[in-house]
Amino acid sequence: MLEDDLRKMLHEWADQGLLRHVRETQSPQGPTIQFDGRQVHNFCSNDYLGLANDSRLGQSIVNSIRQEGYGAAASRLLCGSMPSHHRLEREMARFKGTEACLLYSTGFMANQGILTSLFGKDDVIFSDRLNHASIIDGIRLSGASFHRYRHVDMDHLDRLLTAAPPAQRKCIVTDTVFSMDGDLAPLDRIVELAGKYQAMVMVDEAHAMGVMGDTGKGCCEHFGVADRVEIQMGTFSKAAGSFGAYCCGSRNLIDVLVNKSRSFIYTTGLPPLVAAASLKAVEIIERDQAHRNKLWDNTHYTRAALRLAGFDTMDSSTPIIPIRVGDNEKAVTFSRRLFEEGILVLAIRPPTVPPGTARLRMTVTAKHNKADIDYVLNKMQHIGKELQVI
Ligand SMILES: Cc1ncc(COP(=O)(O)O)c(C=O)c1O
Repeated sequence: MLEDDLRKMLHEWADQGLLRHVRETQSPQGPTIQFDGRQVHNFCSNDYLGLANDSRLGQSIVNSIRQEGYGAAASRLLCGSMPSHHRLEREMARFKGTEACLLYSTGFMANQGILTSLFGKDDVIFSDRLNHASIIDGIRLSGASFHRYRHVDMDHLDRLLTAAPPAQRKCIVTDTVFSMDGDLAPLDRIVELAGKYQAMVMVDEAHAMGVMGDTGKGCCEHFGVADRVEIQMGTFSKAAGSFGAYCCGSRNLIDVLVNKSRSFIYTTGLPPLVAAASLKAVEIIERDQAHRNKLWDNTHYTRAALRLAGFDTMDSSTPIIPIRVGDNEKAVTFSRRLFEEGILVLAIRPPTVPPGTARLRMTVTAKHNKADIDYVLNKMQHIGKELQVI
């Protein structure tokens, strides 16, 4: 019975070109990797600054393991809260200019934990239509009323806010860099609207940390609105090259999360060595402007060439560069053809992106060199023409 149902589901997805498979990366992350038995140019990771295999993070891990061992062995609220966790929380609060910070084991857990702790059935949350799945799940679990505004459409958000009862507690929540489109939330306009309607603002800086802002703090720094955003969440799993997530905000906010956040309370603390690696990454992000400059250099160069070749890179303005294909099967074929040429750029299909907007999601890092980028651009153009994408 179960097996029949499972087979049916799998066949349906296969028929629609939506079946997913887990593949294997057989080398450390980097601009070239060994993937499914082949050496390929890697243009699909979130390792924007190339820190995922950085020896300085490795050394921090070695030092931590000597002093703190490997496992945290318990929830942070029992005996699993170790020096590296506390150091990283203090450092993140300083880095972000907030009173306090709380670590979560993953970004997914952070969004769920924050939203379910702070909001309930009497509240209303306004969420960008393209927000990350963990935000959507967190809102649903919280039981709050849920309004989705059209992607980065501030007029729509304004209209929805106007219609909400003035006395109801409101929160606007948004990714700051959208993970599949590579465009930015207009945070300057969002905080303005929040002020007008007395709404709180929560941001997810997962893809902005290390990438956006003069010192890599993210889009709150880029837009100069950090003091007008109450809840600043982000991850160490992208540009920081590590793992885990944070929430930065007021002391009271963090104390409430410590007492109420189920995904913080009922889970084992991160291995302290992970926090130690993140701590080193934050130091590098803040000090090493050269990495960020190289990343942006590569980003501008790649996107301009793709646009010139006639590809639709949507409204992307960050190192995440979508190449819109539309049809699911064609996007997969494009990705497969690139792989045959030694290039890893994966296809993203519904439900991760809206139906009819299947795309290649190309990401550029500080570690790519121009020769590799030119090779990829050349092959993309060739295959793009062959498949009539351009
Ligand atoms: C915008 C956004 N938020 C949250 C997450 C979840 O973070 P994590 O991978 O640490 O669970 C991701 C990606 O994974 C993301 O892209």
